[in-house]
Amino acid sequence: MNHMVDVSAHREAVEIADDVYWIGALDPTLRTFDIILSTANGTTYNSYLIKGSEGVAIIDTVKENFSSEFFARLESEVSYDQIKVIVLNHLEPDHTGALPELMRRAPQAQLYISQRATSMLKALLKPNTDTFEYTTVNTNDTVSLGDRTLRFLHTPYLHWPDTQCTYLEEENILFSGDVFGCHYCDKRLFNDRVGDFRFSFDYYYAHIMRPFKKHVMDALKLIEPLKIRQIAPTHGPILRERPRRYITHYRELSTSSLSREVGGQSDKSLIIFYMSSYGNTARMAEAINSGASEVEGVRVSQYDLEGGETDPFVDLIEEADAMLFGSPTINGDAVKPVWDLLSSLAVVNLKGKIGGAFGSYGWSGEAVSMIEDRMRGLKMNIPKKGLRVKLIPTDQELDECRDFGQLIAEVLVGRSQENQVIEFADLA
Ligand SMILES: Cc1cc2nc3c(=O)[nH]c(=O)nc-3n(C[C@H](O)[C@H](O)[C@H](O)COP(=O)(O)O)c2cc1C
Ligand SMILES: [Fe+2]
Ligand SMILES: [Fe+2]
Repeated sequence: MNHMVDVSAHREAVEIADDVYWIGALDPTLRTFDIILSTANGTTYNSYLIKGSEGVAIIDTVKENFSSEFFARLESEVSYDQIKVIVLNHLEPDHTGALPELMRRAPQAQLYISQRATSMLKALLKPNTDTFEYTTVNTNDTVSLGDRTLRFLHTPYLHWPDTQCTYLEEENILFSGDVFGCHYCDKRLFNDRVGDFRFSFDYYYAHIMRPFKKHVMDALKLIEPLKIRQIAPTHGPILRERPRRYITHYRELSTSSLSREVGGQSDKSLIIFYMSSYGNTARMAEAINSGASEVEGVRVSQYDLEGGETDPFVDLIEEADAMLFGSPTINGDAVKPVWDLLSSLAVVNLKGKIGGAFGSYGWSGEAVSMIEDRMRGLKMNIPKKGLRVKLIPTDQELDECRDFGQLIAEVLVGRSQENQVIEFADLA
């Protein structure tokens, strides 16, 4: 038995501050969001309505199949001809699904989006024949509702290029889009009322925001100086109880833990991952390690993938400056644990990190170049062609491995003149 007001049954707007309402939708049965996220108790699509003395603003909409819930809540407070402003903080369909119908019902409303959202707006609304007028806004642009002012913050890549936040100045409410959101469905709506959503909050950050940590830090520079009474994201609880701690938490999550561990230590970090059945690739790894370790200012770590799990390695890779992968060639391929790790890196940004590959082989030896291709796909720099050894490495080949390790380490600390680092990402 639940004695709380059931917002899903009532379909009425919920006032979150003076004349500011939640008019979103609950999706409690959703179990997977966007293919990549598990949603153990569903999610919410939060949309907001602000009444001003000179008109109404709607901030974001909902996923298309939740439109009727959204319109019912909207209609419980205002009529469509009162709507003056529609703000889209993010154009992903979970927030723009109801937009075409809303624009049909409120054709006089002016649409506000970020500059980067313009091409997306067209592409997303392709199936609709309607064309929409819109205004693009940037940081500190404002729009007035008479006694209320909306101020825009340009916060791109959180988590799409188009994303922005909108700040209601008089009420100190930050409409943050997906930022500070999470997939957590609880009809009690507010962070001081809902269940324990910490796991969902961190999980959402880890999968959606983590690849964009640098952009999170940039956005926080705009957000932190604001006076904030509530954060109203597009998914999950509205953060009205101690909202600032979520901002602090985002800063912590976006700060390298390695830099916290080692303080001012400026060593570059190089990690060697490998697998080996007969010990051949392992011997190469040892030699590469000893070569790299000779270079001052480089901290080398070495891991056998047979003895590790993916997630902690992903954390290490995120903070490493360089990484080398060693794999024997088995049936024309690199071994599965190497691929498992290399395919788990979408949540981290590897652009510009230094990479390299090595491995022992019997006759065809494809593994090394396959790994290099993957690293290039991850926008890493491969300063030195990978190293292959046929079967058991000779002393001379182990010397080559040492040289390889040393060279990678020297490139890492900027001491090698010989090999230019090529920004493969910039070649495209
Ligand atoms: C089941 C199996 C399949 C193999 N397939 C290939 C192959 O397709 N191409 C190749 O160059 N070597 C192949 N090899 C040879 C290994 O790459 C070679 O033995 C290598 O030295 C193993 O290195 P490790 O001791 O580091 O595992 C294969 C070996 C095994 C056991
Ligand atoms: Fe999104
Ligand atoms: Fe979203």
